[in-house]
Amino acid sequence: MSQAFFETRSPVPAIRLSNATKRFAGLGKREVFTALDGLNVNVAPGSCVALIGSNGAGKSTLLSILMGTQLLDEGSLHIDGKDVSEEPSWKRASRIALVRQNPEHNVLSSLSIEENFALAIMGRERAFGLRRYNRAAVREAAAQALCKFGMGLEDRLTESTGTLSGGQRQAVAMAMAAVRNPRVLLLDEHVSALDPKRAKLVAEVTEDIIRAQAITTIMVTHDLGHALAHSDRVLMMHRGKVVMDLSGKQKSELDLAGLAAKFEVLVGEALPDRTLLAAAS
Ligand SMILES: Nc1ncnc2c1ncn2[C@@H]1O[C@H](COP(=O)(O)OP(=O)(O)O)[C@@H](O)[C@H]1O
Ligand SMILES: [Mg+2]
Repeated sequence: MSQAFFETRSPVPAIRLSNATKRFAGLGKREVFTALDGLNVNVAPGSCVALIGSNGAGKSTLLSILMGTQLLDEGSLHIDGKDVSEEPSWKRASRIALVRQNPEHNVLSSLSIEENFALAIMGRERAFGLRRYNRAAVREAAAQALCKFGMGLEDRLTESTGTLSGGQRQAVAMAMAAVRNPRVLLLDEHVSALDPKRAKLVAEVTEDIIRAQAITTIMVTHDLGHALAHSDRVLMMHRGKVVMDLSGKQKSELDLAGLAAKFEVLVGEALPDRTLLAAAS
């Protein structure tokens, strides 16, 4: 069979950005700042992409575009083959989950663990009008997802999430994302505010979850070692553009020192020592 046959049968990308451009008003009257500058990126279903780059590169803007909390000025975004460029965030909320860096932003601290899960599950089922939830089903789903973290959270379902540590809240946030089983998971430095031990645990369980459920994942991280170890592909952004895109053999042949050197050359910025130390530990 011809090569063309296989090419046409390749799966529809989970995410497809074409000439994706986003501008913001700058400080001056007519000043315009281009945060995303004509991005062309396809992400294969079920793959995990690490997104790296210096501050202001456009990483968070890209996640906002994927969430739908910002819309593109030019170009298009397709998710699972569907053009969602103009679709508001609430319409795609059941298919996309975001876990943010700050644990306080990911759970409602006035509610119990179980109530947080009930909201996550209601979102998945698009049953916003549901007054009462099936408590037994929510408890079972929550306990199953939480026990993977080995923190004993499955036995504390009625406790307020306000009493939990940062690491425990991030575990709850990841477990809530897992029960929602989104098509796309966005992680915005979701372990960088945790101490190294907890960060490692949450990162490892996150990887188990996304692999087991084959969730397409975009993971923003400043930790280059984490980017290499926990992804299939590393994208580096700089000034709104993708300046490096490594996967397969190219990625597996690259070690931390090699990636750090590429970062310094492409981004023109020396990495702080602590970045490398954190990554090496
Ligand atoms: N809502 C906004 N209004 C104005 N400028 C913004 C806004 N969001 C982001 N920017 C600008 O766009 C650029 C990219 O920001 P961001 O996507 O947050 O970068 P990163 O997450 O890679 O650090 C920055 O210069 C930032 O100041
Ligand atoms: Mg950011």
